Amino acid sequence: MTENVIEVDGLRKSFGDFEAVKGVEFTIQKGEIFGFLGPNGAGKTTTINMLCTMMKPTAGTGRICCHDIQSEKSTVRECIGIIFQENTLDEKLTAEENLMLHCKFYRVPKSERNGRIEEVLRMVDLYEKRKDVVERYSGGMKRRLEIARGLLHYPKVLFLDEPTVGLDPQTRTHIWDYILELKNREGITIFLTTHYMDEAEYSDRIAIMDHGKIIALDTPDNLKKMIGGDVIEVITEDNGKAIEEISQRYGNDVKAKGDSLAFSVKNGSEFLTGFVKQMIVPIKNISVHRPTLNDVFLNLTGREIRDEITNGTKKPKFGHRRF
Ligand SMILES: Nc1ncnc2c1ncn2[C@@H]1O[C@H](COP(=O)(O)OP(=O)(O)OP(=O)(O)O)[C@@H](O)[C@H]1O
Ligand SMILES: [Mg+2]
Repeated sequence: MTENVIEVDGLRKSFGDFEAVKGVEFTIQKGEIFGFLGPNGAGKTTTINMLCTMMKPTAGTGRICCHDIQSEKSTVRECIGIIFQENTLDEKLTAEENLMLHCKFYRVPKSERNGRIEEVLRMVDLYEKRKDVVERYSGGMKRRLEIARGLLHYPKVLFLDEPTVGLDPQTRTHIWDYILELKNREGITIFLTTHYMDEAEYSDRIAIMDHGKIIALDTPDNLKKMIGGDVIEVITEDNGKAIEEISQRYGNDVKAKGDSLAFSVKNGSEFLTGFVKQMIVPIKNISVHRPTLNDVFLNLTGREIRDEITNGTKKPKFGHRRF
């Protein structure tokens, strides 16, 4: 039987007149990796903050492991581990000291502390570096240490807010190996936010969020099936005229994607031959691919998620927090 670990209903958050989260609802099952995918400012962190009891919802309810996020805050906190979007390690302390502090904070029994610290440090390959001061760690090592810290008190649910933002591709893959191992080994339920498409692909289900609302929720495969067929991407000498020509001739809904135009067709390779011959507006470049999550987002909103990302690194927005 499936067991709901997270249940969210009509959750809203307003900051003054601005409604950052506009009534979201979803349930997450035990052992699931659930991804929140959306551009900057979509309301992902705000939703996580409410679920993690860091922020009071304006309306709606949330339950984690059957405990209410408002009336049973401390029980909820015992069930969850959280890796914030911004670094919250104490950089002047060693890795081991950071973890010991967390054990005390979470009242991990004294007799278990050293063993558990060793276990999580080994899990993220930092045991040999445990005596190093964190400010000497690389970005990837710090992120791994934060993941280790989030796991210290045996959480049932792990929240990861942008787990790999700003890290190089190799480190990102490495961190994902740990996350997937966790899911398999410890059966932890994982809730992550991201605006990396490849990262979202690791999720069992994805909620696509935009302007405070969930605009689609399904498995990555089903979301891509919504597009139907293949995606044609074309750069022409006059994209404005090409949009008109394609819509009139083929009846396709054409979306601008950076310098190129994108639209979907049933069978890409069959379509291409006739298309290249028939088009009056000269074509500079053309390609066909299977739908990606970026295509799904573009299709739903007319925008690309990556439009809104500035060079992959982001500044902490609201200062450091402790949990
Ligand atoms: N404490 C706050 N006070 C006022 N506005 C806020 C506050 N926290 C968030 N917001 C606003 O709410 C909206 C949603 O922010 P949030 O941090 O949840 O987005 P996000 O989806 O996590 O974005 P990102 O991908 O950049 O992390 C944004 O417009 C943000 O400026
Ligand atoms: Mg965020």
